[in-house]
Amino acid sequence: PAPGWSIPADVVVVGSGVAGLTAALRCQAAGLDTVVVTKARLDDGSTRWAQGGIAAALGEGDTPAQHLRDTLVAGAGLCDEEAVRILVTEGPDAVRRLISTGARFDTDEAGGIQLTREGGHHRRRIAHAGGDATGAEISRALVAAVRARGVRTVENALVLDLLTDAEGRTAGVTLHVMGEGQHDGVGAVHAPAVVLATGGMGQVYSATTNPAVSTGDGVALALRAGAEVSDLEFVQFHPTVLFLGPDAEGQQPLVSEAVRGEGAHLVDAGGVRFMVGRHELAELAPRDIVAKGIMRRMREQDAEHMFLDARHFGAEMWQHRFPTILAACRAHGIDPVTEPIPVAPAAHYASGGVRTDSRGRTTVPGLYACGEVACTGVHGANRLASNSLLEGLVYAERIAADIAAGRAGGGLPARVPEPVPQPAKPAHPLLAPEARFAIQRIMTEGAGVLRSAESLQKAADQLERLHTEARDALDVHGKTAEPGVDTWEATNLLCVARVLVAAARLREETRGCHWREDRPERDDTAWRRHIVVRLNPDRT
Ligand code: SIN
Repeated sequence: PAPGWSIPADVVVVGSGVAGLTAALRCQAAGLDTVVVTKARLDDGSTRWAQGGIAAALGEGDTPAQHLRDTLVAGAGLCDEEAVRILVTEGPDAVRRLISTGARFDTDEAGGIQLTREGGHHRRRIAHAGGDATGAEISRALVAAVRARGVRTVENALVLDLLTDAEGRTAGVTLHVMGEGQHDGVGAVHAPAVVLATGGMGQVYSATTNPAVSTGDGVALALRAGAEVSDLEFVQFHPTVLFLGPDAEGQQPLVSEAVRGEGAHLVDAGGVRFMVGRHELAELAPRDIVAKGIMRRMREQDAEHMFLDARHFGAEMWQHRFPTILAACRAHGIDPVTEPIPVAPAAHYASGGVRTDSRGRTTVPGLYACGEVACTGVHGANRLASNSLLEGLVYAERIAADIAAGRAGGGLPARVPEPVPQPAKPAHPLLAPEARFAIQRIMTEGAGVLRSAESLQKAADQLERLHTEARDALDVHGKTAEPGVDTWEATNLLCVARVLVAAARLREETRGCHWREDRPERDDTAWRRHIVVRLNPDRT
């Protein structure tokens, strides 16, 4: 439907996690009229769920160069070294600015920031808040700052598509808003700069640590807009997610790497520490290696899960250091103070996303991306633990600087106050909301932590069938599902799932978090490169 209302602005930020709200605050501070639109409430995204913390070379003896090294090793040969250098060099000051914005991190007795370790880090460099509630504290501080500084926000606003002008430049976004008074129904924000900060796509799998809103909306929008997307095959499976049964679906409780960072052991049912001897860092090896170690042991022993044993922490440390995890475990009938925690890997983070340069620019002029939705090149084939909040911060700040410089230098057009005439596009076939569950089952079986040519082929065929059915319903019978959040989410999930599977089929090797059972070796001769996808906007 045509937009029924419009808001003019200089910048529209889509999403309200650490990346989106940081971009919005910095844009507003630079004098740009900024609007944040977000699919649910301001604090409903993934940031709020982050436990372990935010990595930065803040500790004595630590340096950005060491952080760089650990990040490159985890990224398994596919990081963009310059992008990582920017991340680790600008990271410490970005964290200090976050503190100035109001975030309160845990401190030691001397008043310095307390730092812990996580997988792949050779140093203690993870700052945390509220013990294991780092994301919740960051989200609280940023939401409070956005409110205090009067940044305009529109909640319950699902972004639909990018608006462009006759030259193909960004001109805003269309939105479907539910129950926001004057901004209800389908409308638009008209702006010459759009910042995608929509988070991840974990809901493409049955079991994930991601909240229900993580449905790949930004990547799907970027694909429909003709932007380049890269590295979608590199889905990170977090090794230690509370195991709630083989058929558990939806968001699952995370058991942070920081629990291992503080000395918890991974053991099998016989109490054997199976990561010892597999990697010099044992339980603190990079995440892909620990996830593979767990999966292998599960297979060898025909087990549904392994265990994380941190009974030796004692009740006081559990309560003080990991209150969120303790409460989640107890809510499911497990007491980590007296028994090992059943854990298994589950989908956690999209290392790939909308391809950007070091200023957060995508391949569509005026369209930016930061946070999990983006592929800046810092994660390569496997993100280093706790680099994601940092990436959101650092690259959001760079985007705000680039937009402000563009405005000051005349490179960015003044805001677009009038609706921009759009070339007519063919109607998009929308999926029924129930298709979400079919997609999740297909992806979990065919493109999960373990993949093969055969499993991926099957997944591709099944996804294609869903797509063809929706397309035929529209083309042949003139029918499509009723537009709404559920239908757009299912449609976006199918869009990103098809591209993810296509990339995973192409990459005939095992690297980082892409594990092909039929191609178990890393192949640096053929595959030290990225898979970049751009769709024909008229044929999605
Ligand atoms: C965790 O706390 O284990 C998650 C950290 C991350 O995903 O970076």
